[in-house]
Amino acid sequence: MKKIALSLIFASAALMASEANATTETKAVATAAPAANAANGEALYKKCVGCHGAKAENKALGKSDIIAGWDAAKIEEALKGYKAGTRNVHTMGALMKGQVASYSDADIKAVAEYISKLK
Ligand code: HEC
Repeated sequence: MKKIALSLIFASAALMASEANATTETKAVATAAPAANAANGEALYKKCVGCHGAKAENKALGKSDIIAGWDAAKIEEALKGYKAGTRNVHTMGALMKGQVASYSDADIKAVAEYISKLK
């Protein structure tokens, strides 16, 4: 009986140890992600500069709103709308759809965050 109790204690200790490991690994991944996104957002915005401007200060092709000063959520929503083909504010939605077609949700979030921080 004593043996069983002892092995139970060992088993649960081992379990706790492995859970602790899992938590540290998840934390490591979570803290690494924002930094990677920040770098990404800048790279992903490179192809937008020609029309929207380095600081997002231009009316792209004389048509779009100036997106400098927009918050990240608003930009993200607009880009997702273009990608889905449901947004077309100035008759050039198809053009913007082409711009973001290859962007994943994470890419869209990263580029939106980057634009929202441009000064
Ligand atoms: C070839 C020029 C061009 C490029 C490159 C371009 N855009 Fe646009 N963008 C436009 C035009 C034109 C519109 C207006 C679309 C419409 O009719 O709704 C627009 C609209 C937008 C809007 C919404 C603004 C509004 O008026 O509602 C956002 C946000 C945006 N673009 C972000 C981006 C991002 C991010 C990139 C790079 C991935 C990009 N654009 C690349 C031309 C461009």
